[in-house]
Amino acid sequence: MVITKLRKVGLLNLIFLLILLAACEEGVTPKLKENKEPEYESVVTDFDKKLKIGFSMDTLEEERWPRDRDFFKEAVESLGAEVVIREAKGDDTLQIVQAETLISEGVDLLVIVPHNAEAVATIVNKAHSSGIKVISYDRLVKNSSVDLYISFDNELVGELQAQAITKLVPKGKYVYIGGANTDNNAHLLKKGVFNVLQPFIDRGDIQVVYDQWTENWTPENAFANMEAALEINNNEIDAVIAANDATAGGVIKALEAQGLEGEIPVAGQDADLAAAQHIVQGTQTMTIYKPIKTLAYEAARAAIKMAGGETVATNRKMNNGKLEIPSLLLSPIAVDKDNIDDTIIADGFHKRDEVYGMTEE
Ligand code: BGC
Repeated sequence: MVITKLRKVGLLNLIFLLILLAACEEGVTPKLKENKEPEYESVVTDFDKKLKIGFSMDTLEEERWPRDRDFFKEAVESLGAEVVIREAKGDDTLQIVQAETLISEGVDLLVIVPHNAEAVATIVNKAHSSGIKVISYDRLVKNSSVDLYISFDNELVGELQAQAITKLVPKGKYVYIGGANTDNNAHLLKKGVFNVLQPFIDRGDIQVVYDQWTENWTPENAFANMEAALEINNNEIDAVIAANDATAGGVIKALEAQGLEGEIPVAGQDADLAAAQHIVQGTQTMTIYKPIKTLAYEAARAAIKMAGGETVATNRKMNNGKLEIPSLLLSPIAVDKDNIDDTIIADGFHKRDEVYGMTEE
C-alpha cells in the first residue's frame, strides 16, 4: 500500500512522506499495542475468571455430610469462586459419571469424597488428562496420583476411641464394629483401635470376640452385626467400639433389645446429635468430634490455591498404595460426658438444649 502511494507522489511529496513515516515511528507502537491488546486482555480475563470447583460427594446420608457440603460451598463462595456439587448416593458408577461430567463441564479443580476408595482412581486419571488437579476430601482415593489428601487423622481417631474404652474396661470381651470395607478411613480407624488394643490382647487381658465391617456404614447393618455378636457370645460382652456414630446407633439399638443399653461402654465418632444425646443419657460412652467447618474451609482454600497453580502447605504424607500423597491431617477431639459442654456445645456444633433436651432438669 505504501509502495502504491510512492508511485503517485512527486519528490517533495516523497520527502514529506518519509518525514511523516519517521514521525509516525511512534505510531507503529500503538499499532503493535493494538495487536497485543487482545492477548493482554485474554490473560487478564483468564485470571479474573471465576474459578469453578467441582465437589463430588459419595453420600449425604450421615449427619455430617450436609455440613461438609454447606461449609464447603460457603467457603468456596466466600473466596470468590463457584462450586458445583454432585451426590452419588453411594453408587460407584454414578460417582464416576458425575465426576466425568464435572470435568467435561470445565471445572478448574475436582474435590472428591470417594464412595469406593479404589473405584474412583479412574476419575483422577481422567481429570489429570484434562489438566485438572484432584483433592481427596476426608477419604483417601487409593492407587492413584491424587494431588492432595485433606482429612482428620483417622488412625488417631481409632486410638482415641480405644484409649477411652480401655481406661474403663482394661480386661474383657470386646466387639469391634468396623466401617465400610471399601472406605480407606475404615481401615485407618481399625488400625488405630488395634494399635491400642494389641498390648492388652497380647497380655491376654482383652479378647476381641467379634470383628466385622459394616457394609455402607449403615446403622441397620451395624445392628445386625451387633445382634450376631451378642448371640454368638451369649450377651457376654464387656465393651464395643464402633467406627462411627451411625454404627454406634445400630449397636445401641441391639443392646436395647437385650436390655443392656447403658451397661456396656460404646464408642463412636462424628459427634452426631443422636450420639451427643446418647452420651448425656449414658447409653454411649464417647464420640470423636471433628470440626467439619475447619476441614471444609481448609479444603476450599487448598482448592482455590491449587486451581490457580499455587502449592499448599501439608503436614503429612499418606501412602495410597501407589504414591506418598501430600496430606493435611487435622486433629480429632475425644468427647465424653465430662467435656461435651466445652467442646461440641461451646463450638456451636450442637445447641445445648438439643443435646440435653430430654434429660436436663
Ligand atoms: C468418615 C466418617 C463417616 C463415615 C460414614 C468416613 O469416611 O470419616 O466421618 O461417618 O465415613 O459416612
